[in-house]
Amino acid sequence: MKERLLALEKAASAEIEEIEDPSELEKFRIRYLGKKGELTILMKDVGGLPPPQRPEMGKLANRIKGNLTSRINQAKKTLASGRDRQKGFLDVTLPGREPRRGHLHPITSVIKEVCQIFSKMGFRVVKGPNVELDYYNFEALNIPKDHPARDMQDTFYISDNVVLRTHTSPMQVRVMETHLPPVSVIAPGKVYRRDSDVSHTPMFHQVEGLLVDKGVTFGDLKGTLSGFVHQMFGKETRLRFRPSFFPFTEPSAEVDIVCVICGGKGCRTCSHTGWLEILGSGMVDPAVYRFVEYDADVYSGFAFGMGIERIAMLKYGIDDIQLFFKNEMRFLRQF
Ligand code: PHE
Repeated sequence: MKERLLALEKAASAEIEEIEDPSELEKFRIRYLGKKGELTILMKDVGGLPPPQRPEMGKLANRIKGNLTSRINQAKKTLASGRDRQKGFLDVTLPGREPRRGHLHPITSVIKEVCQIFSKMGFRVVKGPNVELDYYNFEALNIPKDHPARDMQDTFYISDNVVLRTHTSPMQVRVMETHLPPVSVIAPGKVYRRDSDVSHTPMFHQVEGLLVDKGVTFGDLKGTLSGFVHQMFGKETRLRFRPSFFPFTEPSAEVDIVCVICGGKGCRTCSHTGWLEILGSGMVDPAVYRFVEYDADVYSGFAFGMGIERIAMLKYGIDDIQLFFKNEMRFLRQF
């Protein structure tokens, strides 16, 4: 009996050294100390020995059981702390976790795209104030006080002479005032009008364009804007120039593109006309040149202004302008 007990102790001690994970350790415990475990069975056999031998063998068996139990508990702790150490271990060969990244707002990326297209044609990007003098927003654009054309744009007034700009056209005046021709600039930015429904928000974005030089014609205007439309909406996109009126351009034209939804057949989006308006444009009115002291007999040029939300809606097929400003992630994630 003594040999069997000592042999078991030796085998068990050797075995426990090799154990590397908690489930193995548990199997080990069951094998020796479980109800039908090897040591448990031996201990029962001790009970069946002749009485004189029982105390000594009982003591030995109990000592082995005690040792084994404490070694198992010790190993449990060691394995657990080993796992903790593994948690903090940095394996530089593992592929990285992709960080959650944001991206540009669709309006920002459309502005960038528009600016890129015109930059490639030689236009320089300029920016100006959102809080603007009446002079730049209206007066110098040939819209005198009390002129009915002021009603075209429902204005936020800061004071009698200061407004939130209702369009980016004041940048035409600011650029010409400080630069002699030739000039070719585009001016993206925010504009403000007292207006709010499915197709209007009180703040929206425009990109203004201005080119003035000797001998600039309406043909240049058409060529430039056609080039833009084809790059923005695709080479196949048909467009048309429709006569219009702006106090600061003469002649004036609005540009329509063929409806992106129905392809020109007529649908709800295009009010059954087959066409969608995307921008206002025209040849700079000589009246404006007088404010910036350009010689209208020597120089001519064109200007245009487009609504960015409008372009984005057509490009992505969005039917509610309010979506751009709700900060709804399910909407924004799509871009
Ligand atoms: N500023 C005009 C608008 O907001 C657009 C425009 C710009 C028209 C330049 C002609 C020339 O409606």
